[in-house]
Amino acid sequence: MDKYELRILILSGVTMALFIVAILRGVAKYDAGVPECIPYDESFTEPRIEKLDDNLYQVFALAQMWSFEPNEIFLPVGAEVDIYLTSKDVVHGYHINDVSLNMMAVPGGVNKKTVTFKKPGVYKIVCHEYCGSGHQHMLGEIIVNHPTN
Ligand code: CUA
Repeated sequence: MDKYELRILILSGVTMALFIVAILRGVAKYDAGVPECIPYDESFTEPRIEKLDDNLYQVFALAQMWSFEPNEIFLPVGAEVDIYLTSKDVVHGYHINDVSLNMMAVPGGVNKKTVTFKKPGVYKIVCHEYCGSGHQHMLGEIIVNHPTN
């Protein structure tokens, strides 16, 4: 075998190995799973936060032109939260960057995702689906703090 041929073979092997490693790392870091679809009923259009126990919460989030409700959510560090999301009018997005949460708010449908907030901080919620002239105003915050008691 020609020495250049061998070098090219080694180079392409190494490149392929790097691609595979990059893909596996990406999956491990960012793949937070797919949201679950929940059967819809009217009670999901009533925005609220429910505390099930010290570290377990349910957020019933409602998106509508052009706001989220609740748009300020206070949670303790380490809280595990089931987020149920629906929309009152058109399709909206619900994106929280630092926990890789990416959901669609669909009228007549409910999406659910469980997220754990391991670090204190302010997590921004944004609508990432263009939904009309007030799209850029659809913002919210999840404030994660150490328990005060
Ligand atoms: Cu709601 Cu964009």
